[in-house]
Amino acid sequence: MSLSLSVTSCAAVSALLVVCALHVEGTGQDSMFSEARAYEHFMGRWSRDLAPLLVRFAAVRDGQTVLDVGAGTGALSTAVAAAAPASRIIGIDPSGAYVAFAQAQHAKNGHVSFEVGDAQHMRFDTASFGHTLSLLVVNFIPDARKAVSEMRRVTKPKGTVAAAVWDYGEGMEMLRVFWDEAIALQPASDKKDERHMALCRRGELASLWREAGLQDVVEEPLTIATRFASFDDYWTPFLAKQGPAGAYVTSLSAEDREALRGRLRHRLLGDGPDRPLVLHARAWAVRGVVP
Ligand SMILES: C[S@@+](CC[C@H](N)C(=O)[O-])C[C@H]1O[C@@H](n2cnc3c(N)ncnc32)[C@H](O)[C@@H]1O
Repeated sequence: MSLSLSVTSCAAVSALLVVCALHVEGTGQDSMFSEARAYEHFMGRWSRDLAPLLVRFAAVRDGQTVLDVGAGTGALSTAVAAAAPASRIIGIDPSGAYVAFAQAQHAKNGHVSFEVGDAQHMRFDTASFGHTLSLLVVNFIPDARKAVSEMRRVTKPKGTVAAAVWDYGEGMEMLRVFWDEAIALQPASDKKDERHMALCRRGELASLWREAGLQDVVEEPLTIATRFASFDDYWTPFLAKQGPAGAYVTSLSAEDREALRGRLRHRLLGDGPDRPLVLHARAWAVRGVVP
């Protein structure tokens, strides 16, 4: 199917596909990425702040066709549409609920569409896109090598392939604080700490990009401030079951959940009264050029 056909028929394709989400084998992600509004309040709001930095880092040129891999609720596509309004943008994601949410946000923009899809097996023709981008996704893909090779395949020669992943081990303070306190409360939860995920440490994305045969590979940190109006604004989104941290909170007994809440409040506010909080969130970003 040619890209022009794909774009014009995308609304219809999405309408058909949103009723069924893809099951990404063995990941347990079906419920972790299932509630679009909850995700927006939990992590999507930070994706929206990070996305313009990735668009700038990837040097997206207006008028190009752009693929957003693992588009989720649409933060990156929205940033591309703002920076490059003449571009055609397609977002894919296995979560039907996220695809439906993203599509509704762009219902009036014929240049932007979303559909259910898996980065490891994309339906697009070789060399279809000027830029292929992915925000905070490649660490969740079971075969990231396959996904990056697909991203390279669907991108035109001289086009860019770029991605970013939170630095869960050090630079993503909101989640670092969360997991540090979860492990202090229950040492066995260490295995669920997102810092163990692949591709979140300095140099890992760049190695993967070079392995995939991409050229002129550059990796840089991108940092945003995560501003919370109060402790509740920090804590409550963890209760909505989204992402690995939300899934972990859901697995706790009411008593342990309250103990974790108390530890986090003390870690962030000490014995003082509630107040706004500012934490920092660093992601590693990589870009490379298709030979
Ligand atoms: C942390 S969210 C990021 C979503 C969005 N890019 C953002 O920045 O808000 C991770 C996303 O990766 C998607 N995902 C997981 N496995 C995938 C795969 N095999 N192919 C494409 N996307 C995938 C999930 O459904 C989820 O929407």
